[in-house]
Amino acid sequence: MAGDLVVQTQKLTKVYRDFWGRQKKIALRALSFEVKRGEIFGLLGPNGSGKTTTIKLLLGLLFPTEGEAFVLGKTSNDVRKNEKIGYLPEESYLYRFLNAEETLDFYGRLFDMDADTRQRRSAELIEKVGLKNDRKRILREYSKGMRQRIGLAQALINDPELVILDEPTSGLDPLGARWMKDLIVDLRNKGKTIIMCSHRLEDVQDVCDRIAILSNGELQAYGRVDELLQDTRRVEMRATGLELSESLRRDLEAVIKKHGGSVDTMGHPTTTLEDYFLKIVEESSSRPGRRYLPETSGKGGR
Ligand SMILES: Nc1ncnc2c1ncn2[C@@H]1O[C@H](COP(=O)(O)OP(=O)(O)O)[C@@H](O)[C@H]1O
Ligand SMILES: [Mg+2]
Repeated sequence: MAGDLVVQTQKLTKVYRDFWGRQKKIALRALSFEVKRGEIFGLLGPNGSGKTTTIKLLLGLLFPTEGEAFVLGKTSNDVRKNEKIGYLPEESYLYRFLNAEETLDFYGRLFDMDADTRQRRSAELIEKVGLKNDRKRILREYSKGMRQRIGLAQALINDPELVILDEPTSGLDPLGARWMKDLIVDLRNKGKTIIMCSHRLEDVQDVCDRIAILSNGELQAYGRVDELLQDTRRVEMRATGLELSESLRRDLEAVIKKHGGSVDTMGHPTTTLEDYFLKIVEESSSRPGRRYLPETSGKGGR
């Protein structure tokens, strides 16, 4: 395994069997991919495409039917490597009757951290995930979004080299999802490697450096997000400081025609609904009391 690789899988295959050992479901078929140190790698695919299965194989929670995976220089079945891995599962598995502090203290003990370190680390993480005011409440009372936050804090308790997140933005509202994505990028900027899986395309496009797209357990596409999404048949140019006048249109069309092309569209770019939504919410908190009043149409009657 080369030094710049954190994960390498070779023809990883998983067949789930039923109670009598009969073949039930081929969840993954000969999956080979690599994750490089310091990148955000996205596993993308519809429900049931094998994302969670892949993650569980990397963690050694499942054994491959065929093929193998190496993680942090060890085979995936070697549990010692998990000391350097943080994992946020898809389903919450935290103890519902512990509060946030007790939860992190519990996981800190599992990693053999001493009391002082546990306390310092847990206070830092609770602050980081924005649960300071709710740290004494038991998790049963937490919303789905709050459970994702404490789940993430738990995944970071051991200051892992590799962070594996299964559907990290599920159940979060747009503000929470943006917060989670910013935090993921921040972890990468601090030198961590992140593997996340998601069926929400906008999450993956915003944060991932490279992705693998799975469908029915098979790899369909693999590579850098910017390269996969680049449409080399079209040319786009953006400009500021001028009006989109008829004469500008005519001039541009003439230039493009001269170079052998044709204009498909020309106009003003649109923003994403996510950016627009965040802007509106931000503005509303800086200008309380302002609200949108629909224009009244005409005077009475229809
Ligand atoms: N323990 C299991 N036993 C049998 N089939 C399973 C089991 N876990 C997952 N599967 C099946 O394997 C396929 C892949 O599942 P999964 O990896 O959870 O997909 P994803 O995370 O992409 O939604 C699905 O068809 C699912 O029903
Ligand atoms: Mg899943």
